[in-house]
Amino acid sequence: MPSSKYTFIEHLLFPSTSLNERKLSEKLKGKTVLITGASYGIGEQVAYRLAQTGARLLLVARTEEKLKEVRDEVARRGGEAHVFIADLAKEEQVKALLVQLLQWDIDIVISNAGKSIRRSVYESLDRFHDLTRSMGVNYFGPARLVLALIPMLEKNKGHIINVSAVNVLLAPAPYWAAYQSSKTAFDQWFRCAAPELRAAGICTTSVYLPLVKTRMIAPTAAYNNMPAMSAEHAAAQICMAITTRKRKIAPWWLPVAELASVLFGGLWQRIASSYLKKKKTV
Ligand SMILES: NC(=O)c1ccc[n+]([C@@H]2O[C@H](COP(=O)([O-])OP(=O)(O)OC[C@H]3O[C@@H](n4cnc5c(N)ncnc54)[C@H](OP(=O)(O)O)[C@@H]3O)[C@@H](O)[C@H]2O)c1
Repeated sequence: MPSSKYTFIEHLLFPSTSLNERKLSEKLKGKTVLITGASYGIGEQVAYRLAQTGARLLLVARTEEKLKEVRDEVARRGGEAHVFIADLAKEEQVKALLVQLLQWDIDIVISNAGKSIRRSVYESLDRFHDLTRSMGVNYFGPARLVLALIPMLEKNKGHIINVSAVNVLLAPAPYWAAYQSSKTAFDQWFRCAAPELRAAGICTTSVYLPLVKTRMIAPTAAYNNMPAMSAEHAAAQICMAITTRKRKIAPWWLPVAELASVLFGGLWQRIASSYLKKKKTV
């Protein structure tokens, strides 16, 4: 389901997702699905997409009022959702969240909450907290959640879906050090754990998303005119992970971009450095 507002290039880059709604409902009827980062953007759209499947949704985020609006909208669409307020970057809050979550019988975890930071390392010399908070929300928080839920997921032959980014598999980009390193850390951790989890009967999927039109990319002016997927389309890709249970869901062009990153990664670094040098001297 591509967005009707897509440009020609966006239609090419992000072709329709053929989501089998009947199969989705069959898989989810009576199941409990945890969605982190469900108050805005992609997570919010996943909640709406799952509203009519008969699944019970457990929604996690920090913004209580907005999360309750999402819960009410899910109910208006005929679904059931429950809200859990927690900052995944704060260890104590994740521990308290887990005390509540462990009372439920969770079948599917959609690890979607995330925070991006775009900042030069030169603007970060006194901002070590950028690293700790990115690692908190994008790596340690999700890893702590997943670790604690593994026994329950094993019992339920469950499924963990990690909402990752194409960038973690491509040549690194300047200004994105804190965000990309933390997303890469969890992506790697999850892929290392995947064979063990699969051997124990827990399905794992890494969903590699391209640029998606959400509030996350809004502050970056350079993205205004770049091709980007709609949040609804990204949500459909995540729902497709539930029906197909594939290890990896990614845009068709990602292998080409990965190959280009290997072949031209050095050139890309040199071009980026000389561009930044020129920009500094202007
Ligand atoms: N947008 C893109 O271009 C893009 C591309 C590739 C991958 N992704 C990934 O997609 C996921 C969703 O991003 P999005 O684009 O939908 O961004 P978004 O609209 O900003 O939504 C992010 C969600 O994560 C929650 N969140 C952020 N920090 C949190 C924290 N410390 N504790 C708990 N929840 C937190 C937010 O809720 P609260 O603020 O209420 O806590 C919100 O619900 C992220 O993992 C992101 O890395 C996005």
